[in-house]
Order: sequence, then structure tokens, then C-alpha cells
Amino acid sequence: MVNPKISHRPTICYRPIQPSDIEILEKIHSDVFPIRYESEFFQNVVNGRDIVSWAAVDRSRSNGRSDELIGFVTARIVMAKDSEIADLLRYDSSKGDQTLVYILTLGVVDAYRNLGIASALIHEVIKYASSIPVCRAVYLHVISYNNPAIHLYKKMSFKCVRRLHGFYLINGQHYDSYLFVYYVNGSRSPCSPLVLVTFIFTCMKTGLKSVAAKLRKNEEKMVKWPKCKETRGLIPIQNKRMIKTECSGCEYV
Ligand SMILES: CC(C)(COP(=O)(O)OP(=O)(O)OC[C@H]1O[C@@H](n2cnc3c(N)ncnc32)[C@H](O)[C@@H]1OP(=O)(O)O)[C@@H](O)C(=O)NCCC(=O)NCCS
Repeated sequence: MVNPKISHRPTICYRPIQPSDIEILEKIHSDVFPIRYESEFFQNVVNGRDIVSWAAVDRSRSNGRSDELIGFVTARIVMAKDSEIADLLRYDSSKGDQTLVYILTLGVVDAYRNLGIASALIHEVIKYASSIPVCRAVYLHVISYNNPAIHLYKKMSFKCVRRLHGFYLINGQHYDSYLFVYYVNGSRSPCSPLVLVTFIFTCMKTGLKSVAAKLRKNEEKMVKWPKCKETRGLIPIQNKRMIKTECSGCEYV
């Protein structure tokens, strides 16, 4: 796809972030985030100290910029039991110290947006997390008004599990954040009793409806319903209820 903001067809490649990237990494962070990061953070990223990261570059770029960062994602491994989502995980102490991958920052320079670069970077993080047998999930916070990012995480099947009131303090003003989780290695959030009841209720309703449909079908042989019509129709409602239960206050769901 050719982006109107760039004059050539980009050739996007992904590679680890390295010490020579520090200047442009700091510049993009200050361009795209309302929060300032300490220089220690950038040192840790480029030297891989407790932080894993991936960079996107455009190999077709001219003027010696073919290795210059146009996007990045940084993440950290955290212990599942010490994390703020420990209660959402079915913790199995027999499996030893389980971990999570927490996405710290993600950004793509303006001219390269909507080309799937952030999606590919997140995919790298998910692949990495999945390759760690004791890793249970990838998670992150996003400020509540960041619609492009929220759209992206939902598109990538992250689940919004919480709304945190006043989580961010920016220029003296508090903003809410959403907490998104992507479970890996077969992990799932434990079912709350309410979610379970909702699920059973929906199944019963689906069952009753399909029995009624079958009866109707027998009575009115002329009407041909597609086999899964009722079930398919209920899936979004069921998902919506489950998400709503876990993510109270997420108006965008
Ligand atoms: C969020 C961000 C990383 C996305 O990067 P990207 O490379 O453009 O992402 P992708 O191309 O993989 O996907 C973008 C998706 O968002 C959609 N999108 C773009 N602007 C949008 C908007 N204003 N509202 C809703 N969706 C939007 C695109 O249509 C696309 O979805 P689609 O594939 O269904 O069409 C980028 O916008 C960015 O760097 N923003 C500033 C930093 C930031 O907010 N980081 C996230 C912090 S949590």
C-alpha cells in the first residue's frame, strides 16, 4: 500500500533496537507521547537492560535513512503474582514463577501510520511472550481517549479488563486508562460467578430458541432457516455481555 504521506513504496523491516537508535528513539517518544520519559529509560531500552524491544525501519528510505526507526515497541517481563492482573489469572503455584509481558511504549511516526506497522510490532511481542512457557499474558494500559490505539488492541483480540480512574496525571490533569490483556499459552481469565451465570443463561436461551426453531421448521416446511442462524446471532450479544462484565465502564465496547 502507498501512503500519501510518503512518496515511495515502503519496505518495512523489523529488527532489535540498538544503541545507535537512542537519539531517534527519544525524539519519536517525545513527538508521540504526552508523557516525558527519563533518559535512563532510553538507555535501558537500547542496551536491552530488563527491556525487550523491536524497531521498524523502512529499507526503501533514501538519504541514508534506510535504517532509521519509524516505529518501535518496548516491553518488560514482570512476575505474574506481583502484577496488577494477578487476580485475573488462574494462578497455578505448581508451575513455578509465572510471568507476563507488559508493553511499556508503542509508537509509529505519523507518515507511516495505518500501514499495519503497530500490528506487526505487537505481533512480535505476542510471539515472544508465547515462546516463554511460563508466560501467561501480554498486557498494557492505554489512555481512555486514544481511539486509534484502542481500535488496534481490540482488532488484535486484546480484552479490555478494567477501567482505571485517574490513572494518568498529565500536566496536572487526571485521565482514565483502560487495561488490555492478551492471554497466551492457553491461559484464560478465571470465570467469575456472574460471567458463568450469564453464559449458562445465554446457552439455555440459545437452546430454547433452537428447539423452538426446529418445531417451527417442522410446522412450516416452506421456511428454510440457515442451520446456525440463532447461534450466530447470539455470539456478539454473548461476547458483549462477557466483556461488559469484566470491563465495567468501557463505553466503547
Ligand atoms: C496507535 C499507533 C501505534 C497505531 O500505529 P499504526 O502503525 O498506525 O497501527 P496499524 O496500522 O497496525 O493499525 C491502525 C488501525 O487503527 C485504525 N485507526 C487509525 N486512526 C483511528 C482513529 N482515529 N480511530 C479509530 N481507529 C483508527 C486504522 O484504521 C487501523 O485499523 P484497521 O486495520 O482496522 O483499518 C499509532 O497511531 C501511534 O503511534 N500513535 C501515537 C502513540 C500511541 O498512541 N501509542 C499507543 C499508546 S498505548
